[in-house]
Amino acid sequence: MFSSSKQEKMSLSASRLLWPKTVFGRRIFVVIMILVTLFLYVAWCIVDDCVIDLSHGFGTMDMLKRYTQDDIGLNEQLKFVCEENFQDTRLYMQDKRQEDWKNLSMIYFVTPTYPRKEQIPELLRLGYTLQHIPRLHWIVANDYNSCNPYLNTFLYRFHIPFTHLSSPMPSQFNNAKAKPRGVSNRRAAMEWLRSRNITSGILYFGDDDNTYDLKLFQEIRDTKRVSMFPVGLIANYGISGPVVRKGKVVGFLDSWVAGRRWPVDMAGFAVNLAYMTEHPNASMPFVPGYEEDYFLRSLALRLDMIEPKGNNCTEILVWHTQTKNHEPTTVQISRDYLDNRSNLGLLFESLSNMGVAKASDRGGAKAIISKNGKSKPLSYFLS
Ligand SMILES: *[C@@H]1O[C@H](CO)[C@@H](O)[C@H](O)[C@H]1NC(C)=O
Ligand SMILES: *[C@@H]1O[C@H](CO)[C@@H](O)[C@H](O)[C@H]1NC(C)=O
Ligand SMILES: *[C@@H]1O[C@H](CO)[C@@H](O)[C@H](O)[C@H]1NC(C)=O
Ligand SMILES: *[C@@H]1O[C@H](CO)[C@@H](O)[C@H](O)[C@H]1NC(C)=O
Ligand SMILES: *[C@@H]1O[C@H](CO)[C@@H](O)[C@H](O)[C@H]1NC(C)=O
Repeated sequence: MFSSSKQEKMSLSASRLLWPKTVFGRRIFVVIMILVTLFLYVAWCIVDDCVIDLSHGFGTMDMLKRYTQDDIGLNEQLKFVCEENFQDTRLYMQDKRQEDWKNLSMIYFVTPTYPRKEQIPELLRLGYTLQHIPRLHWIVANDYNSCNPYLNTFLYRFHIPFTHLSSPMPSQFNNAKAKPRGVSNRRAAMEWLRSRNITSGILYFGDDDNTYDLKLFQEIRDTKRVSMFPVGLIANYGISGPVVRKGKVVGFLDSWVAGRRWPVDMAGFAVNLAYMTEHPNASMPFVPGYEEDYFLRSLALRLDMIEPKGNNCTEILVWHTQTKNHEPTTVQISRDYLDNRSNLGLLFESLSNMGVAKASDRGGAKAIISKNGKSKPLSYFLS
């Protein structure tokens, strides 16, 4: 028995070189192995996407929780209803009388907007698109700390029902590197819908600088819970939207995943308000880049619920056309000439009201007035 071969003993001692002798030593060994495995897993996750989304565990989820829990009630303080109009004064739409459309469910089209040179031209273009759509209520939420009186009257010209809200971004984000633009606006709009007890109809977030095909509205109007569709001109691919197989959404095409379960653009989905009402905690976080994702998570969305629109997501019915931002303009022109002797007084008053350009006696681009190809002093025209 004890004469077990020398060979056996040698191989045993060889394996014992790696395996610690004491119980404590073995435990330490196991812990080190687990740590090494974890380290390799984390390294793999950084290089590639992994099954369990670590980015969420380590940051985004915490951030989302913080921003969605702490700021409950924020909108109550920061939302002002500037003007509300429930009258649809269009007589005909697409050759039909208004009554002929009355059975359609209402679309609540939420447009976050902010003061800048392009604001009024963008809203003008969008307003005339929306004018073609029956049964639509336009919620225009302005990132501005008071009611812009110009917008109040401006919105009546489209003859459609609208709500004008003042919904400034909370000041704690003023110095943030990436600002959560449009969030307080959309939250204010949802708050307004709740305050008005509006629990039926379709909610759609439509920015003021997108281009909308009229067919989009017909498509989203029968959304049961959440519908989705491609958005053109997004990031690297020029497109973002669901991947559809056999009439079902199976994934998403979007060049920026970043751990988002729902990597879609804000303009790429619509929600039935009856469904949203079932989720009273539905909200949007003040986290740049994750607004859509977290909002859809807060609706307890599942992949199999999504209704693909636009001919099984083969058509592009909305485009993310961004207008280039222009620097604010100041035109140097003596105030003496901005009176009723010419159009210039009223013209510059309008430009100033719309936030496009200001007239100044001193700074700014010098106003040049010409005739027959030659510049002339203003006194030449106005004396
Ligand atoms: C609207 O719906 C009601 C009942 O749901 C129906 O009786 C009526 O004919 C419909 N009207 C139109 C214009 O389709
Ligand atoms: C909304 O509904 C609640 C409860 O049903 C009611 O107290 C409130 O007055 C309603 N508000 C409006 C604006 O209709
Ligand atoms: C979408 O695809 C499904 C399955 O191929 C088909 O049954 C359905 O009719 C399609 N829908 C549309 C609007 O084309
Ligand atoms: C909504 O949030 C409140 C407070 O955080 C929580 O008590 C409640 O359970 C939530 N409701 C749902 C339906 O998730
Ligand atoms: C222009 O303004 C002056 C004084 O402000 C006023 O007396 C005059 O009637 C105005 N003219 C016109 C055409 O409005």
